[in-house]
Amino acid sequence: MTAVQSEYHLMWREPATKVFPVLKELGIGFVPYSPLNRGFLGGGINEYTVFDPKRDNRQTLPRFAPQALRANYRVVEVLNEFGRTRGMTSAQVALAWLLAKSPAIVPIPGTTKMSHMEENLRTLDFKLSAADVADLEKQVAPVPVMGDRYNANEQKQVSAG
Ligand SMILES: NC(=O)c1ccc[n+]([C@@H]2O[C@H](COP(=O)([O-])OP(=O)(O)OC[C@H]3O[C@@H](n4cnc5c(N)ncnc54)[C@H](OP(=O)(O)O)[C@@H]3O)[C@@H](O)[C@H]2O)c1
Repeated sequence: MTAVQSEYHLMWREPATKVFPVLKELGIGFVPYSPLNRGFLGGGINEYTVFDPKRDNRQTLPRFAPQALRANYRVVEVLNEFGRTRGMTSAQVALAWLLAKSPAIVPIPGTTKMSHMEENLRTLDFKLSAADVADLEKQVAPVPVMGDRYNANEQKQVSAG
């Protein structure tokens, strides 16, 4: 096995405790899917966002219900605040955090826009130190995340990690 792909980002960190120790022991890489929490950490999604019912499943996810988006936007504000003095956008902070966690972590953010792809690639211009990572995690930790990742039916189809 070369790599495992599972959801992992600043708002969902369960693989760190349940999966990473095994991957480290066996020398297996990790692709954190939805590294921007399906775009939310990029800051362009809020309670007024309308998702295309034919092509976008985010409207079915409890974490993307309007009241959850409103409550969870505090996380984006923390990322914006952290990035402001460093010249980074919230998306870049989210990706830089992943890259700083381990060289075995390879985020592949999804986008339909060249500007976002360039912005995301420019994350490589920044490097968060261990102290930066600890500081960011300390700022994000007190913000409660509202809403489950999946609805009950979908949750049955995904494993704990
Ligand atoms: N194995 C699995 O079960 C699984 C599940 C889900 C996803 N994945 C994979 O994981 C990868 C990415 O996941 P994902 O697309 O679900 O989530 P994601 O990368 O967390 O988010 C994608 C969303 O972020 C937005 N975005 C990208 N860059 C941005 C930026 N700089 N600023 C603001 N918004 C930005 C995109 O909108 P725009 O189009 O407007 O840029 C898009 O709506 C894909 O390769 C996907 O195939 C795998």
